[in-house]
This record gives sequence, C-alpha cells and structure tokens, in this order.
Amino acid sequence: MDAPNKDFAFAGSLDELKVKGRLVVHGRHRPILVIYDRGRVFALDNRCPHMGFPLERGSLDDGILTCHWHHARFDLESGCTFDLWADDVPICPIEVRNGEVWVKTTFGHANPAAHWRQRLADGLAHDLGLVLAKAVHGQLAADVPRADIVRQVALFGAQNRDGWGVGLTILTALANLLPFLPEEEAYLALFHGARRVAADCDGEAPRRERAPLESRPDPTALKGWLQRWSNVRHREAAERTLLTAIASGLSPPVLADVLLAAETERVFADTGHSLDFINKAFECLDLIGWEHAPAVLPTIVGQMVAARGAEESTAWRQPADLVALCEETASQLPDLFAASGARQGWSDHATLARELLGDDPVRIVDAIKAAVRAGAAPADLGRSLAYGAALRVARFGTANEHADWETAHHVFTFANALHQMLDRIGTAADGVAAVRAVLHGAMALYLTRYLNVPPAHIPGENGERLDDLPADADTILATLLDAFDRQRQVDLAARLVARHLSLGHSPRALIATLARAALREDAGFHAYQMLEAGVRQFTAWGNTDASRHILIAVARYLAAHSPTERAALQTADIARRLMLGAELHQEAGV
Ligand code: FES
Repeated sequence: MDAPNKDFAFAGSLDELKVKGRLVVHGRHRPILVIYDRGRVFALDNRCPHMGFPLERGSLDDGILTCHWHHARFDLESGCTFDLWADDVPICPIEVRNGEVWVKTTFGHANPAAHWRQRLADGLAHDLGLVLAKAVHGQLAADVPRADIVRQVALFGAQNRDGWGVGLTILTALANLLPFLPEEEAYLALFHGARRVAADCDGEAPRRERAPLESRPDPTALKGWLQRWSNVRHREAAERTLLTAIASGLSPPVLADVLLAAETERVFADTGHSLDFINKAFECLDLIGWEHAPAVLPTIVGQMVAARGAEESTAWRQPADLVALCEETASQLPDLFAASGARQGWSDHATLARELLGDDPVRIVDAIKAAVRAGAAPADLGRSLAYGAALRVARFGTANEHADWETAHHVFTFANALHQMLDRIGTAADGVAAVRAVLHGAMALYLTRYLNVPPAHIPGENGERLDDLPADADTILATLLDAFDRQRQVDLAARLVARHLSLGHSPRALIATLARAALREDAGFHAYQMLEAGVRQFTAWGNTDASRHILIAVARYLAAHSPTERAALQTADIARRLMLGAELHQEAGV
C-alpha cells in the first residue's frame, strides 16, 4: 500500500489499534501516540508538554487524556490543556486508508512566529514559566528579532502593573547584554527577563493611563513643575507633567535632564533604586523604540515621588551633616561649570575615583569641585564615581556580613545609572541639577568605606603573574565556571579574571562566561544589575587596568552569590528539549 505521502508514517492496522487502544510510532521524528477512542483515531506528541512524561501511560476518560506524572489534563481532540501550567500538547494529522492508520510525523504551525507570539502573551498573562520558555525558544527559532521579543515583554510589563518593577529592570539589563551573548545564553536571558516580568505582574491590577495636559509649556516650566510635584509626592500631577513633556516632543536627553532634576530633589532615594529604575526605563526605550515613551516612561513616576531620601537617615546627618555638605556644594556647581567652560579632554577619571574613596567627606567634594574647575563634564564625574564604586566591590572584605555585598552593590549600580544618564544628557541641557546626584553618590560611597577595612587584595596588580593558574583561555574560563559551581570561591574567581585579562585573552569571551555563570543560576535582581553595570562600565574604559578591576568586582559579586538551585535553568532546559523534539523520558510499554 502506498503511503499518503512521504511525511506520513505507518502506525499500524486499524484493527490492531482497536484491540490495543493506543500505539506509539517511533522513528527519527518525535514519538507519536495514536489513540483509538469511541470510533475515532487521534494522534499527538507522546511527550507530555509539561515535562515530557510519556502520555501513553496516561489515562483516558470522556475524551480527556490525563498525564500520570503531575496529572495535567488534555482535550484528546485538540491537545489543548485544561491545566495552563502544562501547556497544550501538539497534535498531528492522521489518515486511515484501507484499514491502515498513517500519521504525519512533522509538527508545526502555519505561522510559527505568530503562534509563539501568542503563547508568549499567554505565558506572561498567566505567569507560566514553561510556556514562556517555549515561546521565547519558538520565536527565536522562527527568526523573530530579539528586540521584538523584548518589546512584547516590556510593553506587557508596563501595562499590567501599577509602576515600573524589578522584572522590567532585569529584562532591560539582560536585553542590554544580548550583543555579548551566544545563542543559548540569549535564550536564557530573554526567558529570565520574561519570567521576572510575568512574576511581577501576577495578581497585580493593570496600569491606568493618564493623559497629558492640553497646553504645551516650555521645558523650563515642565522641569520646575516636575520638581514641585515630586517634592510634594503628587503622583498624578507628576505623571501628567511628564506625559506633557513627552507630548511636547522633548528629546530623550532633555527628558533625562527633566527627570533627574526631579529625582535629585531627594538624596540617594530608595538606596539608589529610584534613579536606577529611571535609567533603565530610558534604556528600555532605546531597545524597543521611543514611540513607546508614553506607555513606558510614566511607570517610573510612582516610585520616584514615593521614594524615601537619605536626608531622613541618621547616618547622613551625624556625626557629619553630609546632606548639608551636598546642598552647599550643589549651590556652587553652576558657577563652577560656567567658569570651567566646555573644555574637552579632561581625563583624570581614575585619579578622581581614588579620591572619591577617601575618608574625609569635605576633601571628597573638594576633589569633585577641583575636577569641575579642571574641565570635567558631568558625565566624567559619573564615570569616576562608577569606577570608585566598582573598586569598593573589588576590594570588598569577605569578613563583612554577606548582606553587605548589597550595600556595596547599591552604590555601584546607582553610580553606573547616573553615569549613563549624565552621558545621555550630554550638552543637550545644563544638567547642573542632575549633577547633584554625583555628590549624593560620592557620599553614599564614603559611607560604605568600612566595607574595605581591611581591603581585599586585587589580583594582577604590580605585575603579579598568577602563574599557578592555567594560561589557555578556554581552560581559564572553564575553571572560572567551575569556581562558580562551588561556594566561597570569591578570591579564585577574581584571580581567574585577572589572569585571563592580563594574558590578553578576549574580554568578550570573559563577559560571555560571566553572563553564562549568572544566567544558569536562580540569580537575584542584584546579580543581573551587577553584571550589566559592570559590562557597561567595562566598555567605557576599554581594555585597561580600570576595566580589569571592574570585571573583577563583577566576578567577586557573582561568586559570592553562586551556586543556587538552578530551578529556572531546569525549566528552560526542559522547554528547549521539548521544542527540539528530544525524548526526555524513556517510554515504557503500553
Ligand atoms: S503533567 Fe505530564 S509530565 Fe507533568
């Protein structure tokens, strides 16, 4: 008997199927379960879409197939699940000809990109990790651009909770890293971003949109209004003002200046998270397109106006009043910048960074003022601050409490965000109000000086050769991943990073390895921030001593927080194997 066509495989005779009830067709394709039920024949993927358990072992009742592992239930005819966490099971066409049953061995969708886009929407709406992983994998396999996936997730996150959250920050941080990531890590990055956004939105009320004012005041008035509304914590007024600024066509650099002026009305607000979230919202729009600014940018206003500033904190007031010192210095900045002019070529970033690590707050602000007089632009100050904060992490003494890693981390990610924002503002606005944040960051850095008492040794300094470590790049990176597999390998991780870079091996390969180390873990929010901020700062410094110190800081932080259970990696791996048609479990006889 001829096959219906070459895509079909012979499953058995109809009589045999009637007697046995079910048959499994094996071959180079995925295993296919053929079922006879109440006079009809059905065929579906034999691997449960949840975790791959063979469905041939399931039970059938009233047209409902139940997997016997976690008891997910499926409509036999369509393969659709009654239990969303399990996902739908793919079905395949059958033909019965002259008493023989043939099944089509290829599964697929007429429009894979559209199918997986809808599944990503479903996974986000119901916080379904496995569905999200498959949808990301399916879209990548259908050649959907990575930026399109980021856009879909970002817009969902902006619309389905009342304000910017950790998930959107993670999504943006990981999306920023995509150019450094090979295929497998890109899949993991997008999956982690999607699952964290979905988790953030789970059970949340959707966001209610507000409208811009119908007038179009000038940027100076809008900037002043936003500062006013932030000061008095008037969220609705602040959102309408920001929407008006967007509707007025203010450029992203000017919007950055307007927002930082309002944000810096409070000192180091929410231990730096508020400013970091603002920067991430800007970076998100760089990735997904500024036409989405009205949907995305106002989401950061709620946290900004509600944030608690350090001016309410005792540590900032006694024994030295650091807030007063910042205010006095900030009042001098306009004249200092005006006097220095727009000089180009100031390059003492590393020197200033080391001065910022001093133990006298007055000398620290004097160093900042001296840098401005010498021609440092606001973005230069931000870059020095970020490097100083990275050195704090690189020298973090492991005798400190483990939770203090986060104290050091907060200053670094704040400083990186500030550097990015000041760089964005550039010369598009005066940015002087925004520079107050440099003073705030410098004082936050000063307050963490105890974290470097005693300072940890930075490997590779002064010609230290580290010859006890491997020399080959692949071996170094494999050893580094192995170090992240064990607890308390902070110093070894730092030494391996120093070894890799001092031998002139590829920084990109090292960054990809650090990303792999983070992406395979159930990493916390801060680990993603640390990694991305470190890569940002690394690229600002090129291949220098400073960039080596920055990646050492990243590696030390990641090593201090590894390994974890890796449950998300297991979900991603199951999804990947199911999508690729692999058999996850050995089938048993019927
Ligand atoms: S329900 Fe089938 S493998 Fe979990």
